Amino acid sequence: MTHPSPLLDAAAGPRPLQGADVAAARERTRRRRLWWVAAALAPVLAWLWWRLLTGNPVTGVHLPWVDPLYLLSGGFFVVLMLVLAATTLGAGRSPHVVVRPEQIDVGLDDVVGIDVVKAEVVRTLNLFLAHRTFAREMGGRHRRGVLFEGAPGTGKTHTAKALAKEAGVPFLMATATSFQSGLQGASQRKVRSYFRALRRAARQYGGAIGFIDEFDAIALRRPGTAMTAVPAGSALQPTASSSVLGCGGLTGLPATPASSAGLLRSGYTSGGDAQMTVNELLVQLQSFEQPTGGQRLLGALVDAANLLLPAHRRLRGPATVPANVLLLASTNTAERLDPALLRPGRFDQRLSFELPGRSGRRQLVDHFLGRKAHEAQLDDPERRDALAAITHGYSPAAIEGLLDEALVQAVQDGRTAMRWVDVERARLVTEVGLGQPVEYTEHEARLIATHEAGHAVTAWLVAPTRRLEVLTIIKRRQSLGLLAHGDAEEVHTRSRSELKGLVQIAFGGQVAEELFFDDVSTGPSGDLVYATNVAAQMVGQAGMVDTLVSYAAIEGGAFSDAGIVGRVLGDPQGRAMVEDLLQQQRAAVHGLLGTHRHLVAALRDALLERRELVGSQITDVLQAAAPAGPDAVLDLTGPEPRVR
Ligand SMILES: Nc1ncnc2c1ncn2[C@@H]1O[C@H](COP(=O)(O)OP(=O)(O)O)[C@@H](O)[C@H]1O
Ligand SMILES: [Mg+2]
Repeated sequence: MTHPSPLLDAAAGPRPLQGADVAAARERTRRRRLWWVAAALAPVLAWLWWRLLTGNPVTGVHLPWVDPLYLLSGGFFVVLMLVLAATTLGAGRSPHVVVRPEQIDVGLDDVVGIDVVKAEVVRTLNLFLAHRTFAREMGGRHRRGVLFEGAPGTGKTHTAKALAKEAGVPFLMATATSFQSGLQGASQRKVRSYFRALRRAARQYGGAIGFIDEFDAIALRRPGTAMTAVPAGSALQPTASSSVLGCGGLTGLPATPASSAGLLRSGYTSGGDAQMTVNELLVQLQSFEQPTGGQRLLGALVDAANLLLPAHRRLRGPATVPANVLLLASTNTAERLDPALLRPGRFDQRLSFELPGRSGRRQLVDHFLGRKAHEAQLDDPERRDALAAITHGYSPAAIEGLLDEALVQAVQDGRTAMRWVDVERARLVTEVGLGQPVEYTEHEARLIATHEAGHAVTAWLVAPTRRLEVLTIIKRRQSLGLLAHGDAEEVHTRSRSELKGLVQIAFGGQVAEELFFDDVSTGPSGDLVYATNVAAQMVGQAGMVDTLVSYAAIEGGAFSDAGIVGRVLGDPQGRAMVEDLLQQQRAAVHGLLGTHRHLVAALRDALLERRELVGSQITDVLQAAAPAGPDAVLDLTGPEPRVR
């Protein structure tokens, strides 16, 4: 099938358009450059030829003799001046590197699992490469700036590199931090030089692409500009970083004061230099229509000549051709960027790099396993599906990290290829942490086991849809013990009852301590933080409790800088509602565990004996103990728990 316009090929094809307008423009520039070289060399050659013909050929150039002492001292002076000039100019030099395709080892084929974003990126690139046709046939303007937005590890830099390999135009890469400088005004100079380099490359090669990584380092919102933010990262959405919810376990010590966000704000974000850098960026983003130095000079000459000419004889100045530049930038949070940067004509397109869905993860698993040593067991499609399922919430980088860790586990076991068990062990290590041998006292071990058993029993009773993954009293990271539980299915929303269930699971530990020891420890502090977070979001963001007011909508005012939890708790009414909600859930758990004491006891004993229960081991104990009633004693010595 032949399309009437290359643009339709561009929209359909998964690959960059070769030989599009940009390539044609480059060819034109090359020919013009050749003509210039020929025109400059012709008089010299003609003169040499003439000298030859007239019998007086040029034989050599005679330099005058100079005393070496003069040469030495003069040379020293010149070098000194050069060093001085270089340091001054160097402070404002553009920090970019021009990457050549052959320096990059990832192509578009290596970007997998994020098909929607990838297709959009290629489409943008194609519009850029065929910009002339797009403008001529449809009157459109290609996208000037595209913002890659997404959590760390979702492949923003990776995709940009792949583009650089395939784009076929100069690709100027820079990280935003390299624009920063301690010298007053140097950051702005660097921004200016970077854009100058972009414009020059675009004029020389018919087009150029710029990529600024970690853009927020120089593009944070200037103080006083309107906030567009919607607070991100809430427990109402399933967790972003991990499919397993650590039910905080016991925190060993009284909680250390959380590092206050107010103190962490560095001078750079609020300092004057940062504002100037954003302003400079805004100016430079509009600079692609500016005439070049040569055009300006020619324009000035034409203007001067026109002063002498009568009105009907005036000369026309040179027309400016806008530089054909595509600017990409990546950031973790577009909300914190200066809103002026996101207006039309600047970064008007935002591409969201989301966490991959199940089929995306399956493709990623295939992609990564394709180059990591694994046993035949892991070639089984069902195993790979399972692997895609348990990595719910993982970014591509996290999946790669997990498989790398699995390789490490295999090596520790004396093998050179990974198996399924290695993947499972790696998952425990990456999500929960390495187990550390700590000797608890008899009493402490009992306390921790009771606490964790309380969490697990509550989870089993109130949230049957959750998968209990690990229950342990082996110390991992800060937790002395831990219940890890995750969604059985991939979910994208949570209901009110589910959220209440999560709060109840968090209270399970404390309530169990109270029931069995008539006292509470410092242990639940982490659980309380979690419960408070969820409750505050239910109250302030989801309209699930008595109020329908969204605290997320507050702009300006005393606590608009705080997160949703800070906003809700900062309001006396909001705080009262959170307190109410928490008290109710705690009371509910108290009732629940009061009638199921025997389950907690059974699980506690199992934990004290085995230290760590994984997956079905937990539910086996609970199922064995449940029908037996409060007075039964479990026999854990066999492979399956039995009532003694
Ligand atoms: N879509 C993807 N396909 C294949 N590998 C990916 C993908 N996304 C990320 N990766 C891997 O994860 C690593 C980190 O991704 P990166 O692009 O640096 O993340 P960020 O979004 O933080 O810039 C990459 O080097 C690459 O190996
Ligand atoms: Mg990156």
